[in-house]
Amino acid sequence: MTTTTPTPTATPAAPVLVELTGLRKEFGGAAGGVAVDDVSLTVHEGETLALVGESGCGKTTLTRLLLRLLTPTAGRVSFAGRDLATLSPEELRRLRRQMQVVLQDPYSSMNPRWRIADIVAEPLVTHDPAARGRRGRAGTRRRVGELLEAVGLTAQMQDRYPHEFSGGQRQRVSIARALALEPRLVVLDEPTSALDVSVQARILDLLAELQQRHGLTYVFVSHNLAVVQQVADRVAVMRRGRIVEVGDAAQVFHAPRHPYTRQLLDAVPIPDPRRARRAGGTAPQAPADAVVPADGAGADEAVPDGGGAVDPGGAP
Ligand SMILES: Nc1ncnc2c1ncn2[C@@H]1O[C@H](COP(=O)(O)OP(=O)(O)OP(=O)(O)O)[C@@H](O)[C@H]1O
Ligand SMILES: [Mg+2]
Repeated sequence: MTTTTPTPTATPAAPVLVELTGLRKEFGGAAGGVAVDDVSLTVHEGETLALVGESGCGKTTLTRLLLRLLTPTAGRVSFAGRDLATLSPEELRRLRRQMQVVLQDPYSSMNPRWRIADIVAEPLVTHDPAARGRRGRAGTRRRVGELLEAVGLTAQMQDRYPHEFSGGQRQRVSIARALALEPRLVVLDEPTSALDVSVQARILDLLAELQQRHGLTYVFVSHNLAVVQQVADRVAVMRRGRIVEVGDAAQVFHAPRHPYTRQLLDAVPIPDPRRARRAGGTAPQAPADAVVPADGAGADEAVPDGGGAVDPGGAP
């Protein structure tokens, strides 16, 4: 796999894929409250929109509303021009194929007793049970193998179990699973936060490469501004359930408009010489998580203790 530098793939003229209008989510119960408050936001075809903000500000809730895994208290979500609230369960099910999600901790969403083959094939089987018959066992194996190879693993790895993989490899498996139905949108909720820095860099490279190859649209949730700076075309800054600022990544990072965005940026040294010059100092040290190794080779996907029998295979 080549190391790719994420480049903005979307122009402002790209069609809107997702439109959120006046979205609100209140949770009941003792711990309840307003988690998402009057959010209006668009996501354009082919772009990476990053959603940043401190823990508890409502990022995950907003993505769950977008995916209609949660019903909004008020407001509207439309995907490819269709208001999700107006769809029948069957229509929603079909539309869902086009929107997939990758979470921070793939292990928690993988049945430890399932082989990778079954984990990756699951969306294929659930969304299109008839296809299983058409494709047959051999066809499904072939498709899973292709998906694993597309994320830098090997087709043979499908016979293994989740515990036989490293964290980075497991995240590759969950990306393969997310791609199984050829979605248009992938929501990535802190996809690299649980990984160490070098593995994180490779996964970000992989995501950039897959985006280019498949014309994917990403909603990328992260609290790591260095990561966001690397991946985002546009950035939405969230605070206490509201979007306080949204703009092109360069504008948000270099000319933030909202005081809260400035606060966020000041709290974390972002390796950008322009900001350092403006501040009258020398370039700040990149935080540990901002370090992206130039070299794509290495042992990042090495298997953790006890998994010595596993060959990292096609991982870069
Ligand atoms: N199912 C729920 N029931 C009640 N409150 C909830 C529920 N889910 C989220 N919340 C509350 O909504 C608010 C936003 O939570 P959310 O998980 O969206 O934040 P987040 O920005 O994703 O945080 P983090 O960065 O820690 O993942 C929090 O106050 C949380 O406690
Ligand atoms: Mg969250």
